Amino acid sequence: MNHDKIAVIDFGGQYAHLIATKVRRLKVLAEILQPEDPVEAFASFKGIILSGSPALASHGEDGGYDPRIYDLPIPILGFCFGHQEIAKHYGGQVEHTQREYGPAILRTAGQSPIFHGLGPDETVWMSHGDTVTVLPEGFEEVGVSLASADAPPHRNAAIACDARKRYGFQFHPEVDDTVHGEEMLRNFVLGICGCRPDWTMERFGDEEAERIRAQVGDLGVFLLASGGVDSTVCAVLLGQALGPERVHLLHIDNGLMRKNESAQVVEEFMKRGLGQNLHFIDATARFLEALEGVVEPERKRRIIGDTFIDVFRDEASRLDLHQTLLAQGTIYPDTIETGGTKRADTIKTHHNRVPIIEEMIAEGRVVEPIAELYKVEVRELGETLGLPEEMVWRHPFPGPGLGIRLLCSDGVPVPEAPGASEQLERVVAPMGLGGRILPVRSVGVKADLRSYEQPVLLWGGLPWAMAETLAARVFQEVPGVNRCVVDLTGQGFEVAVPRAATVTRERLDLLREADAIVMEGLRRHGLYREVWQCPTVFVPLTLDGRGSEFVVLRPVLSERAMTARPALLPEPLLDELCERLFDLHEISGIGLDITTKPPGTIEWE
Ligand code: XMP
Repeated sequence: MNHDKIAVIDFGGQYAHLIATKVRRLKVLAEILQPEDPVEAFASFKGIILSGSPALASHGEDGGYDPRIYDLPIPILGFCFGHQEIAKHYGGQVEHTQREYGPAILRTAGQSPIFHGLGPDETVWMSHGDTVTVLPEGFEEVGVSLASADAPPHRNAAIACDARKRYGFQFHPEVDDTVHGEEMLRNFVLGICGCRPDWTMERFGDEEAERIRAQVGDLGVFLLASGGVDSTVCAVLLGQALGPERVHLLHIDNGLMRKNESAQVVEEFMKRGLGQNLHFIDATARFLEALEGVVEPERKRRIIGDTFIDVFRDEASRLDLHQTLLAQGTIYPDTIETGGTKRADTIKTHHNRVPIIEEMIAEGRVVEPIAELYKVEVRELGETLGLPEEMVWRHPFPGPGLGIRLLCSDGVPVPEAPGASEQLERVVAPMGLGGRILPVRSVGVKADLRSYEQPVLLWGGLPWAMAETLAARVFQEVPGVNRCVVDLTGQGFEVAVPRAATVTRERLDLLREADAIVMEGLRRHGLYREVWQCPTVFVPLTLDGRGSEFVVLRPVLSERAMTARPALLPEPLLDELCERLFDLHEISGIGLDITTKPPGTIEWE
């Protein structure tokens, strides 16, 4: 069935992603299009939204799109940069004048349908340095913004031309902090564009099942099933569409999974009636052999990815797959995100888009039933397919698994940047805190570039409320540092010595125990779902002659993992975790990572 749909032009950043998600919440399909897409590509849509773009706006660049979209008889709404583009196209003027960041009051005026049902004052979210200073002819100002009730108004914060159905907002209705942003989007999508809200997950599931049957015909499918949310939802959907007898699943235990994970994955598939063609390979020995002696994180990743493909290839030729198509649990961000700071994509591309698979795609032999969805929608589909909550809301887990959470070292201390310790002392001593730079390195991201720098350990009663601010100062003032960790024992150390260590079965087993303790603690305190993800990391360090693994807890709050904030876990949980983790013997210390992303990434590596 054909659904009404909205095109979102992606001018950069995470905005387009978020707008599409919010439109889908209104039960209307939204697709992201690129500025360079030809004007014909927009003809089948009932409305167009132009996203914001902080980079473009502040550099005065143009969006590089075809202005003929304005000749289409389709309503257009723009946010921030998109709003300014609309104003400029119709003859208005944009100047680099008044900056606004964060919350503002939008004071609406007139009776525009775009603000139907809203109050005269609305809380909206701003992030811009450019302003529409001259309104184009035929447009009216339907809202001004005020940084506070008595501040001077910022003009043309919302503009409208009802006759042409063109609308622009200087603010961002797609972010949660614009309190009635969803109503504004609803006014546009359902009211002005007249879209029918008939895109539900149940419908999507039914239609997708039909598409799968049409593509697969009389053949079967072969799915690589890690047990993560995406591949499990995909497996269940394929089973419902084709019948379980035509679905072959391959689960590879790479030895880098969590405690009992592979056994649970196999059990889960059995329970769902997908056990009859389930192939399980324990390739632990092969992965560990390939990782022997390897220290450098990117090399580890490459080796894990290559070994995975080798194992897959061997299995595919062992099982006769001539009568099957390859199915993959690829999701939308896997195909549209083009890399940047998210190394996850490189690895996922590695798995989903290696040459052997590209060849099969070209031959029409690959089925990707959830490739149009975002993670949050995959979870929603999983729920409608009847998957249990604990499966649907599992934390994301990286393809290379615990292999990247075990930091490795050649045993040689990493030298500090000149003056770094003195600088750190100047920041922490006046606050009565202790702090030292650890002689190891981990991966982070600074100004969109990968960094490979040192963590700082802080101790001495840092009030949690100040944690993020202090960390930000450390990153600003101490060279060569990309993470701050708070010592949960509070005692600090005099001498830290790195230990030569690589990825071994013994270290993995110990990390599996530690991870299980942390996950169990989060669940028991009802925090599992609120915390986006919580890697437990081992750093091979001896502190003052004690132990051999320093444990880092990395709980984060996030929406899409592109940015993240540290989740400050409650004291009773932290106390419990410390007590139970120290029982693992080899532990030299325990720290809580208080680093935002950027400059740290979520994983340590
Ligand atoms: P970072 O560490 O870059 O991670 O902040 C962002 C998110 O991506 C996950 N991640 C991966 N997922 N394959 C995956 O499927 C990978 O290679 C990979 N590396 C990181 C990470 O767990 C976090 O959720």
